[in-house]
Amino acid sequence: MLPTISIKLEGETAEHYICEMRRLDPCLEIREWPDIGNPEDVDIAMVWKMPHGELAKFPNLKLIISMAAGVDHVLSDPDRPEGVPIVRVTDPHMARSMGHWFLMNILRLHRETAHYDKLRSQKIWPPEIAFDTDSVSVGILGLGYLGVHVAQMLKAVGLRVQGWSRTEKNLDGIHSFSGRAGLDHMLSNTNYLACLLPNTPATEGIMDLSVFNKMPRGSYVLNAGRGSQLVEPDLLEALNNGQIKGAALDVFKTEPLPKDHPFWTDPRILLTPHHAAEVFLPAAAKIFLKNIYSIRNNQPLMGLVNQELGY
Ligand code: NAP
Ligand code: GLV
Repeated sequence: MLPTISIKLEGETAEHYICEMRRLDPCLEIREWPDIGNPEDVDIAMVWKMPHGELAKFPNLKLIISMAAGVDHVLSDPDRPEGVPIVRVTDPHMARSMGHWFLMNILRLHRETAHYDKLRSQKIWPPEIAFDTDSVSVGILGLGYLGVHVAQMLKAVGLRVQGWSRTEKNLDGIHSFSGRAGLDHMLSNTNYLACLLPNTPATEGIMDLSVFNKMPRGSYVLNAGRGSQLVEPDLLEALNNGQIKGAALDVFKTEPLPKDHPFWTDPRILLTPHHAAEVFLPAAAKIFLKNIYSIRNNQPLMGLVNQELGY
């Protein structure tokens, strides 16, 4: 059996990956799904949103590589082969750009840039206003690989940061909480709620009205985790009653965001199209290769997913 990799991505991205991986290792045999020939040849699948049921067709699979940080697109496949390890991307380039997305949007909301852009379009010079940066208190949901990087970046620019995760962390200058009581405590001191949780049954719908109501009135919500974590009608209700003042969203329950979705035209919501942090091809290709060599040489894997926890 040839050691072979099947790759499934969208658009032209697969070609870029194949080129870069072949450049780094010309001996690799890579086949682009669905033209994979005999599925028995394949021992590694590199995937982003593979149609459900397809992974089950590879009887000799040794490793599934998620070409993203999230693995919900793999774990949601009820037919995925059992017992095959799954790895995901943990890349400092991605973490840095995620930090930039949160920093940019917290400052856009805090400094009310949408309001000032509107005044500018009407050539209105507004009265002076002081922005009290000390009033910004960020609470991060999810202190994992990305959440910790984001927390440290926000702290480094002088923002107050705290975080919540399944297990408590020991981070310099960043208060860490866990459990439902810990979440409530954090929410009472958070006016910028920043979500970086993985999509699991336990995190689905976690940002709802009950959570917004535990934050100080006039707070903000930012989500770059997954769309399923935000109860979208609850956000609209909280925006309408003033409990939440604004939001920045990168991920949505349905993607692409449907044309008739109210978020598109809501001036209180900043939107980006699920690209808060992209996988950085040159770095990711090296990480993928490292894991490919590791599985073939029985070495420890990078970014190994705990399939029981779902992330
Ligand atoms: P990670 O390293 O697996 O971290 C996940 C964090 O969430 C951990 O701190 C974990 O707690 C916490 N967590 C999980 N379930 C929880 C629960 N039920 N209650 C409380 N905390 C819980 O993941 P990551 O690399 O930071 O990535 C996080 C997510 O970001 C990804 O899964 C993906 O959905 C999203 N993402 C989005 C983009 C984008 O462009 N929008 C890009 C990359 C990633 P413990 O530390 O205690 O285990
Ligand atoms: C993107 O959403 C990722 O999970 O990497």
